[in-house]
Amino acid sequence: MTINRRILTLDEFTIQQLRQFPSATGELSSLLRDIGLAAKRINVEVNKAGLVDILGDTGSINVQGEDVKKLDIYANNQFMGVLKHGISCAGVGSEELDDLVVFDDEVSNNSKYVVLFDPLDGSSNIDVNISIGTIFGVYRRVSELGKPCTEEDFLQPGVRQVAAGYVVYGSSTMLVYATRRGVNGFTLDPAIGEFCLSHPDIKCPPSGKLYSVNHGNFFQYEEGLRNYINACQRKDKTNGGPYSQRYVGSMVADVHRNLIKGGIFLYPGTIDKPGGKLRLMYECNPFAFMLEVAGGKATDGKQRILDIQPTELHQRTPLFIGSKNMMEELETYFKP
Ligand code: AHG
Repeated sequence: MTINRRILTLDEFTIQQLRQFPSATGELSSLLRDIGLAAKRINVEVNKAGLVDILGDTGSINVQGEDVKKLDIYANNQFMGVLKHGISCAGVGSEELDDLVVFDDEVSNNSKYVVLFDPLDGSSNIDVNISIGTIFGVYRRVSELGKPCTEEDFLQPGVRQVAAGYVVYGSSTMLVYATRRGVNGFTLDPAIGEFCLSHPDIKCPPSGKLYSVNHGNFFQYEEGLRNYINACQRKDKTNGGPYSQRYVGSMVADVHRNLIKGGIFLYPGTIDKPGGKLRLMYECNPFAFMLEVAGGKATDGKQRILDIQPTELHQRTPLFIGSKNMMEELETYFKP
């Protein structure tokens, strides 16, 4: 039997990367492997979502005699479980949890990373079979090794992430992650249950023809932004307009598409919610890191997302993210 060595699994890829750094400990590779495992487990349940009325909803008992949890709680527990039992993570913050979780045991206290994640983003789309995703950001802790991690390890600006990524549960399931060295995408091959390198060294096209925004909130946006959105629809655009509007309502799916094809995603503040909806630590920082490594840009309309110093775990921020040239054009509409 011949083995197709053109296929590189997530584990093989991370080990290859590791070999380029003789001093590396392998903790980050191990962490990414743990995240891949959680993603595969979540994927199995996401694929069964339409069967929930047949197999049992929240609060019921499944055939193994276990409680059937809501998918987002399930995803949260899977992520926490693999990271707690791995060797690389000292603690986590999750969009599903009010407070951060410190894994206070001997192995975890000596682990150098903490992880912030949104276990299932776009969960309102689950019931209607539309793509959803998981988002994560990895930080090197700043507190002393050998002791439990602290809040200070988590409240770091996004620029200090060492890795960030997402999983999109779509027509296929993909895990995309970035380190400072590049962005790489892996598609889950269900035949062998492995994420396989399918999108090496992803670069975000500098321009695109897609814009993604919730048009229902149009009259709640500030004037400069309304002018930009109107310009997106004009044929006389010098840079190839009009653009096509694409908005899934799952940020992972929307930004993934724009990362690959080129485009811009906008989730602004509104009159009612000036701080916007999206969470800085769980959603915006990981995507801002990935897009910047891929050549794109991300701001809150005033400053780079990655430079925002967080003051609380669950803080929100407006987000504008996408292809470099489109972002630079948007910025001209915000000028005073
Ligand atoms: P949720 O997880 O509550 O479904 O929120 C999803 C997020 C994000 O993924 C998406 O882009 C945005 O909220 C959509 O919000 P609007 O419905 O307000 O456009």
